[in-house]
Amino acid sequence: MSSLPTSLVIYGATGDLSQRKLIPALYNLFIKQRLSGKFVILGLGRKAWDTDQFRVTMKEAVAEFSAATYTVEQWDVFVHHLHYQSGNFTELEDYDKLHAKLSLLEEGGANRLFYLAMPPRFYESIVASLGESGLVRETDNLWRRVIIEKPFGRDLASAQVLNRSIHRFLSEEQIYRIDHYLAKETVQNIMVFRFGNSIFEPLWNRNYIDHIQITAAETVDVGSRASYYDRAGVLRDMFQNHLLQVLSIVAMEPPASRFAESLRNEKVKTLAAVRRMSAKDVTNHTIRAQYDGYLDADGIAADSETPTYAMVNLFIDNWRWQGVPFYLRSGKAMAEKLTEVTIQFKPAPHMLFAQKRKVPGNTLTITIQPDEGIHLRVETKVPDTVADLQPVNMHFHYHDAYEGQIPEAYERLLHDALKGDASLFTRDDEVEFAWQIMDPILRGWAGEHAPPVVGYKPGSWGPVAADEFLAKDGRAWVNGAERPQIVQP
Ligand code: BG6
Repeated sequence: MSSLPTSLVIYGATGDLSQRKLIPALYNLFIKQRLSGKFVILGLGRKAWDTDQFRVTMKEAVAEFSAATYTVEQWDVFVHHLHYQSGNFTELEDYDKLHAKLSLLEEGGANRLFYLAMPPRFYESIVASLGESGLVRETDNLWRRVIIEKPFGRDLASAQVLNRSIHRFLSEEQIYRIDHYLAKETVQNIMVFRFGNSIFEPLWNRNYIDHIQITAAETVDVGSRASYYDRAGVLRDMFQNHLLQVLSIVAMEPPASRFAESLRNEKVKTLAAVRRMSAKDVTNHTIRAQYDGYLDADGIAADSETPTYAMVNLFIDNWRWQGVPFYLRSGKAMAEKLTEVTIQFKPAPHMLFAQKRKVPGNTLTITIQPDEGIHLRVETKVPDTVADLQPVNMHFHYHDAYEGQIPEAYERLLHDALKGDASLFTRDDEVEFAWQIMDPILRGWAGEHAPPVVGYKPGSWGPVAADEFLAKDGRAWVNGAERPQIVQP
């Protein structure tokens, strides 16, 4: 990283994201000596705190959310980098104060990274104020960058407006749109698995793969986020960003290099090739569901049709994937916290060994979380039989192979943004292509041919309709790699 002084300015510094993720991640970067040189962390917020109060609260946050690495000695050094300024930050006069504060802390020029940990309705006005006040003008070889949290828009039109609006003040190279799924080690490992090994890539296509499942199941319900969630719903909350990012990495062509533009070009090409759903496709190839009891939660409209679960069956119209179904599903209040990609290979073309059951193809499961790993299901001969076949799993668990904790996604993202590596951030066109895929579904769900909102039991694997949907295609969900599923005749 550049040893030039750097200021990291966090909008919304008293909020949840800052306390749970950002400051603990910065603390970890500090103790790993990845925040070299002089650096200033300036928290901005509306609360009338002073720097001392900010430091006390952040100490508690780091002790709790970075418990594994927290020591008083390290904290006592780190704390001197933390500062706080209160203000509204939608008024230009607050920017004069911010300018003055930064100049004082920076003691001469410094690079600047602004982090908007704020509700999306503030993005445009903050970026405009940063632009108008000159705080993001790049001069004298000093860079200015802005990290923007999700959600980026509510649909294609609003994302386009937001892109245009922030481009008035920032070049695309200065903008870092966060999707924390991209910073998960296991999501990045999908690229290493595919392109760092030579044996899988030749099989990674329509000739060998029957279908692909992408699951992001959560046990938590909407909890205290009810009012946000009821307006967003699962498509905006999980699909447009996280699930489509995972899909693009699973399905993209090999990039020529691992650098940002090369990688993002391939992801964009993949998203561009995802078939846009017609109104009929939306009716027949999507499922929307709500867990029983959702309507009773505080902050939820009594007649809300907001889905807390969705299943979407996508196709990618290109040479590699023509005809291969991608089944994406995500839901709250489900049986397990489990994020997985399942690659279901085609069955052996000719079965030598007569079996009472239908022998399925091999299954490769990439567990993104919580028990990060990769599992390959193969058929084996049961000992002491003539040729009975039984599936077993070959396992790789991160925690067996590597010592230490897997770093939090935000650690990697902050470090990359400070280094100027945008490969794990979403580009303007990428966000818009993702909305192009979601928009027809959102429209269809608001229209007269919308599929019904079905219910599901909290603690289940989602609605029965989703099982039936795959069953009619002769397929079944794989709910966790540890449980090889034997399809009975
Ligand atoms: C967030 C969503 O982006 O991702 C949340 O807004 C969701 O609703 C969360 O719970 C899931 O992230 P993770 O890392 O726990 O899978």
